[in-house]
Amino acid sequence: MAKGQEDKQDKPVDDLNESEAKAEHERLSAEIRGHDQRYYQEDAPTVSDADYDALRQRLQAIEDAFPDLITSDSPTQTVGAAPSDAFAAVQHAVPMLSLDNAFSDEDVADFVARIRRFLRLSADDPLEFTAEPKIDGLSLNLRYENGALVVAATRGDGTTGEAVTQNARTIADIPTKLPKDAPERIEVRGEVYMTHADFRALNERMQESDGRVFANPRNAAAGSLRQLDSKVTASRPLKFFAYAWGEIPELPRETQSAMVGLFEDWGFTTNPLMRVCSSAEDLIAAYHEIEENRASLGYDIDGVVYKVDRLDYQRRLGFVSRSPRWAIAHKFPAEQATTVLNAIEIQVGRTGALTPVAKLTPVTVGGVVVSNATLHNEDEIKRKDVRVGDTVVVQRAGDVIPQVVKVLTEHRPKDAEPFVFPTECPVCGSHAVREVNPRTGKEDVVRRCTGGLVCPAQAVERLKHFVSRAAFDIEGLGAKQIEAFYEDGLVKTPADIFTLEARDKQNLKKLKDREGWGATSIKNLFAAIDSRRTIALRRFLFALGVRHVGDITAKILAESYGSWSAFEAAMTKLSEGDEQARHDLVAIDGIGDTVAEALAAFFAEPHNRQAVADLLQEVTPEDEVGRTVDSPVAGKTIVFTGTLEKMTRDEAKARAEAMGAKVSGSVSSKTDMIVAGPGAGSKLKKAQELGLEILDEDEWIALANGA
Ligand code: IVH
Repeated sequence: MAKGQEDKQDKPVDDLNESEAKAEHERLSAEIRGHDQRYYQEDAPTVSDADYDALRQRLQAIEDAFPDLITSDSPTQTVGAAPSDAFAAVQHAVPMLSLDNAFSDEDVADFVARIRRFLRLSADDPLEFTAEPKIDGLSLNLRYENGALVVAATRGDGTTGEAVTQNARTIADIPTKLPKDAPERIEVRGEVYMTHADFRALNERMQESDGRVFANPRNAAAGSLRQLDSKVTASRPLKFFAYAWGEIPELPRETQSAMVGLFEDWGFTTNPLMRVCSSAEDLIAAYHEIEENRASLGYDIDGVVYKVDRLDYQRRLGFVSRSPRWAIAHKFPAEQATTVLNAIEIQVGRTGALTPVAKLTPVTVGGVVVSNATLHNEDEIKRKDVRVGDTVVVQRAGDVIPQVVKVLTEHRPKDAEPFVFPTECPVCGSHAVREVNPRTGKEDVVRRCTGGLVCPAQAVERLKHFVSRAAFDIEGLGAKQIEAFYEDGLVKTPADIFTLEARDKQNLKKLKDREGWGATSIKNLFAAIDSRRTIALRRFLFALGVRHVGDITAKILAESYGSWSAFEAAMTKLSEGDEQARHDLVAIDGIGDTVAEALAAFFAEPHNRQAVADLLQEVTPEDEVGRTVDSPVAGKTIVFTGTLEKMTRDEAKARAEAMGAKVSGSVSSKTDMIVAGPGAGSKLKKAQELGLEILDEDEWIALANGA
């Protein structure tokens, strides 16, 4: 970027004259279009969401001040980005979840067996499923009150979506009114998509008007639904299939298939290929039938979804972290393409992991241009004998990162050498080693840089993670700013972010002396930082960047411990080797040994504790309010022992957790209640000694059903 342009960028919008504003408007529009192109067409964004949003905000500010500059093709009129401020946020009454995947017949058989086991069904108890295409579009929640469509919201992050109500009203498959007999309040969910023919026609039109086209029908559907002007959406041929529901006071039907039938009666379009199946073999037959139809459907599908038909079974089965136990998506095989691997780049992540990335001659895989693909790790490179110059097969499945599947050795150049994986960190030069797991004695597949404290890649990646969307999500402080601040020594640790303003006030080196920072942007940055001084516990825990603690795990931990102080106390004990603390931790559904190990290691490390303590001087994590606080067992610790006859252990545990209880494997003074079936031994005895509340299975079931 030329120097003169940066100066202008620095200027508050209010200080721009008309010709400067025009030039700046053009520059920003071009830059945003470039990012849109990389994000939507190439699947390879080069800026963080925060940076992208900042560009859009500035463009918007310029248009607010100089309305003459608004043109119909301005990026402000064609929103096509990740959650933006353009649409009101909608908190979903019932989270919009994802589906677990099955890739083989065996996975399908396991799914059916798992459900039978969970529900304790005998071999001849009937168990039916629906099988229907998995539409490759975007899901939408439609809220009706007193028969009228009141809010339509996208999935967003599953908890919060964007309101696109006006736009949804323009879709012919979506009724704006429901018949009189529909419930007073109901949410219908389904998929918005675009047919191949409509997609091609739209792209032809777009090609003629401004030369920009969508990469695939899904992007076209998403871009069209997320338009600021619903007239634009109305001109785009969107379609909708109803297949699920959100909040609903009382279920009007007893099966999945009957619910979908009811939606059809109400005027929704439902998928004609849905059918009811009664065994794994039957599901697999339905899968092949749908697969055979795939090419002639006229719209994209990427698999077949199976759902338990009986809704009382669905209720009993419940959810595991973010997907229902009662449904699964049987995916079609991934799409593949052949290209040349030009280089292998080693990236260093936040945990020091050295990850090999294949730099490819760009190739289209299933409608998306791919130029990078993961090679996973050192062993994978060796196993596949991947060499620079090789012709390789890459594949892309759904939203996962493209990967190199195999090498076509017959095309290998004569001089291609085996790849030598570095044993030194390419960023800081420290040794990079493969740790040996103390328990299994096995070498870790990942080679890691040992320069934890000195390696800039790790420090910077940790900071970027800290400010990322599911973590602190500080507006105006994206990857680019973090890199610059780190380089200048302004921000070395998370706590430094929160002392920026105070230091800026006293300091010699002021933020405003930096290129690209004007008074307004600095003011906004400090305000954005301040607004994060209190933060949801789950975000706080995720932001710490503990290995294996992703956003879902962080949420589970936050919900189980409820407060930072409870979590901290448990982690201190855990890191000191306290067995009870470890027991309690791994008793939480969704938390296993790997996470426990990672947490113990993190909290045993003095410099991590110091960084957390420093951060807590600046930031307060908010207590997590339990999801089902009004149940009689919310917040209590329950131990199941002996044989349960009417419910499997898994189901009992899932039910207890769904009601906000913690389930532990051992009895201690912290146990609140024990449920003892026949054959209960030492745990029951201990509970009696401790004078704990003891329930038999029937009493437990009454309690569970009453809640
Ligand atoms: S059921 C509790 N049925 O797949 C989950 N989802 O991976 C309820 N999808 O976000 C979803 N076709 O966008 C369901 N026939 C179908 C679907 C479908 C596409 C999408 C949906 C969801 C994602 C989950």
